[in-house]
Amino acid sequence: MTGPSALVLGIETSCDDTAAAVVGGGGEVLSSVVSSQGNLHASYGGVVPELAGRAHLELLTPVIAEALGQAGLVGGRGLRAVAATTGPGLIGSLLVGVSEAKALALAWGLPFVGVNHLEGHLFAALLDHPGVEWPVTVLLVSGGHTLLVSMEGPGRYRLLGQTLDDAAGEAFDKVARFLGLGYPGGPVIERAASHGDPAAFSFPRAMVGDGLDFSFSGLKTAVVHAVRRRPEATDEDVAASFQQAVVDVLVAKTAAAAQSTGATGMCLAGGVSANGALRAAFAESGRELGLPTYLPSRAMCTDNAAMIAAAGWWQLEHLGPTALDAGADPNLRLPLLG
Ligand code: KG4
Ligand code: ZN
Repeated sequence: MTGPSALVLGIETSCDDTAAAVVGGGGEVLSSVVSSQGNLHASYGGVVPELAGRAHLELLTPVIAEALGQAGLVGGRGLRAVAATTGPGLIGSLLVGVSEAKALALAWGLPFVGVNHLEGHLFAALLDHPGVEWPVTVLLVSGGHTLLVSMEGPGRYRLLGQTLDDAAGEAFDKVARFLGLGYPGGPVIERAASHGDPAAFSFPRAMVGDGLDFSFSGLKTAVVHAVRRRPEATDEDVAASFQQAVVDVLVAKTAAAAQSTGATGMCLAGGVSANGALRAAFAESGRELGLPTYLPSRAMCTDNAAMIAAAGWWQLEHLGPTALDAGADPNLRLPLLG
């Protein structure tokens, strides 16, 4: 058990999930509450920024109250700091979380810690694996980002590769929208794919064997052309073949990155890492290479505030608090080693 002085309240509002969590000592999750706005945006086929911001305003205070209550806290008593995502993300959504976190920090006389959302995902991946040896190759695949990172320790990141166009999650979302399967695309594609044949279509594996960058926009176009050519094809077969193409590229590039950097293990992070086919192929690749694989629990893959509290704790200990006049940055980048 961690002492009460090590408790951090984390707040996450960068996109369409309103989340709050209390984490002790950077690793013990006392509560993690996520209120997803998926239904609100589903009929639009994607996140509507204005609606997301307004929903965060309504949901955040009760979500924070629930997170504190589940952790057995009354107000801010017993907390060490308040951490919130400052970017990247939707500016209107980020501002709701950042403003609330600063207000609570001021009212409770606690430090405020501004956390990079991408760094939060890296912490989420390793929350369940505190004893890893560095460097670890991390594949961070979310709705907005596809990054291959060599993590040499908390706060020590080298960028190995990234997408040149669409993010992996974005490709899932766009293909799901094209097939009329709904939003968010990842879970509905995965569900359809489980009843389909991954070899029904041989979609392109872009840039495999060609460096560590990714490209997914050609795959999306290939899906559109294939469905127009074979209108009798089932959604299940298209989804399974598309998913297989994405998984093959993601796993091949992560394995190549791990080998070229002498990594001690491979780790998944971000919303797309909830995908069962990706998780299975990733673990299999690790077995072939003789490397341990670190797969976050599904709740830690998608956006949550426990990862923000964990990153916030580390940041407070090693870099100190964030100034209260620091703003939100929709284009914030992962801080990289020089
Ligand atoms: O990390 P995340 O929750 O939010 C961002 O920071 O973007 O990732 C959301 C993305 C969406 O594109 C969603 O379609 C995708 O993760 N996703 C999945 C699955 N669950 C969520 N993609 C594939 N398979 C899934 N099971
Ligand atoms: Zn995310």
